[in-house]
Amino acid sequence: MRSGEVLALFIWMHCLLASYKVIATTEPTTATANIFGKKTDFKDIESKFALRTPNEPDEDTCYLIPGQEHSIAECNFNQTSKTFVVIHGWTVTGMYESWVPKLVDALYRREPDSNVIVVDWLSRAQQHYPVSAGYTQLVGQDVASFIDWMEEQLNYPVDNIHILGYSLGAHAAGVAGSLTKNKVNRITGLDPAGPSFEYAEISVTLSPDDADFVDVVHTYSVGTPDRSIGIQRPVGHIDIYPNGGNFQPGCNIGETIRLMAEKGLRGFVDMDQIVKCSHERSIHLFIDSLLNEEKPSMAYRCNSKEAFDKGLCLSCRKNRCNTLGYKVNKIRGKRSAKMFMKTSSQMPFKVFHYQVKVHFFGKKNLTVTNQPLLVSLYGTKGESENRPLRLAEMSSNKTYSYLIFTELDVGELLMLKVKWEKESFFSLSDWFTTYAFDIQKIRIKSGELQKKLVFCPENGKHATLTRGKGSVVFVRCNENTIVKKRE
Ligand SMILES: *[C@@H]1O[C@H](CO)[C@@H](O)[C@H](O)[C@H]1NC(C)=O
Ligand SMILES: *[C@@H]1O[C@H](CO)[C@@H](O)[C@H](O)[C@H]1NC(C)=O
Repeated sequence: MRSGEVLALFIWMHCLLASYKVIATTEPTTATANIFGKKTDFKDIESKFALRTPNEPDEDTCYLIPGQEHSIAECNFNQTSKTFVVIHGWTVTGMYESWVPKLVDALYRREPDSNVIVVDWLSRAQQHYPVSAGYTQLVGQDVASFIDWMEEQLNYPVDNIHILGYSLGAHAAGVAGSLTKNKVNRITGLDPAGPSFEYAEISVTLSPDDADFVDVVHTYSVGTPDRSIGIQRPVGHIDIYPNGGNFQPGCNIGETIRLMAEKGLRGFVDMDQIVKCSHERSIHLFIDSLLNEEKPSMAYRCNSKEAFDKGLCLSCRKNRCNTLGYKVNKIRGKRSAKMFMKTSSQMPFKVFHYQVKVHFFGKKNLTVTNQPLLVSLYGTKGESENRPLRLAEMSSNKTYSYLIFTELDVGELLMLKVKWEKESFFSLSDWFTTYAFDIQKIRIKSGELQKKLVFCPENGKHATLTRGKGSVVFVRCNENTIVKKRE
C-alpha cells in the first residue's frame, strides 16, 4: 500500500469522525423538535414500505402503500404469517448499505413464510446528521401510520410485528412503537445512534415502552457519552454490550491496515465500511443468530464491564443469562438489564466463557504485576491450547478471578495446563529471585454449561508454577466435584 493511500484513509476517517463530533456537540433538543402524533392523511407519508422477496432480497420490487388496499394483494403479503420491518440508518451515499439485503436474506432463511418489509427513508437519511436525526420523528410517524393501517384495514395482528432498526433507524422504530394504537410485539435496536440521543427524552429515543419487548445490542459506544457513535445508556428491556460494547474484534485500525494491504484501496465506500465496522457489527451479530441457530451466543447480566472481565458474572440463575439475537428470552425486569459477552472476530461469533479462580500460595511475600500466562483447556470434544491470559497482579496468599474464553467448543473440561511465561528473555531479576507460587486447586465455572469444576495438580497435593518454566498440569479432583445444572 502506498503512503498516499494511507493518507487518504486517514483523511477520510478524520472527516467522518469530525462530522460526528459536530453532531455530538449540537443541542440534544435537535431530535426533540416536533412530535405531533401520527398523520391522518396518508398523502403525508414520505417513507416507502417495500415488501422484499426471498428471491430478490436486494431489490425494492413492490411497495405496500398505506390507504391502497390493492397493494397488499399485489405484493403477495402473507396475512397469516409474521412481519419484520427493517429500518435503516443515516447514509452518506444516499443508497442502501450492503447489510440490508444480507439481513433480509437471513430473515427469510430463518422464517421463509414471513413478510420482510424494508422502510425506505433514504432521502431524509442522507442529510447532515442532525437533520436526519430530527427526521427520525417523521419516519417513526410514517411507520406507525402504516402499522395502524394494516391493523385497521386487514385486521393484521400487531403482535405479529417485529421491527428492527439500526443506528438512527432504532430511534425511528422507537417513535413508531410509541405511536401505534396497540403495541407491536418486539423492537430490536441494533446499535442505536448516540449523537443527539444520549441525553434526549425517551419520547424521541428507543425505550422499553415502545413494544411488548425491546432488545438492544450496543457495539460501538466509545469514549465520552456525548461523542459516542452508539448510544451508551440502556434503552431496552435487555441491553447487550458485546465485548464491552465498544470496539469489536476484527475492527481495529491494525486490522484495517492489514486488510487494505491485502485488498488494496477500493474507493471510499469500502473505507466507510471499515470505519463503521464496530457500529455495523450489531447487525451481523443478529444475522448470525438467524443463520447459526445451533450456535447461540450467550450474554450475562453484570453490573460492570470490569466485573464481567474478571469472570464474576457467568451465572444463569434468575434469568441472569440470555441468548443474543432472534431467540432472545423475553425477560422484562423493572430496570433495563445490562448484559455482557465476548465474541470472536467473525461469524459464527459464539465463544465459550469460563471463570478461572485460583489462590496463589507463597511462603515469602511476593507481588508481581502484568504477568503473561498461557492456559490450555482439554475437554471431551476438543482442546484449546495456549490461550493468553494477562494477570494484572499475582500476590502471595491471595485469590484471583479471571475470564477466559474459547472459540472452540471443548465440551466438558477434563484437564488444564498452565504456563507462566517470562516477559523478556534476559530478565536480570530472575537470577536473584525465584518467581513461583504454589497452587492447590483451580476452580473453573463454565458459563455455557453452567457447571463448576475443581481441578487439582496431576501429581501431589500442590503444584509449583514458576516463571519461565514448563507447564503445570491439573486434572479433575476426585472428590469435591460440584456439578450444577442450568436452571
Ligand atoms: C402464508 O404463511 C403460512 C404460514 O404462516 C403458510 O402456511 C402459507 O403457505 C403461506 N401462504 C402463502 C401463499 O405463501
Ligand atoms: C501464606 O500462608 C501460609 C499458610 O497457609 C503461611 O505458611 C505463609 O507464611 C503465608 N505467606 C505469607 C507471605 O504470609
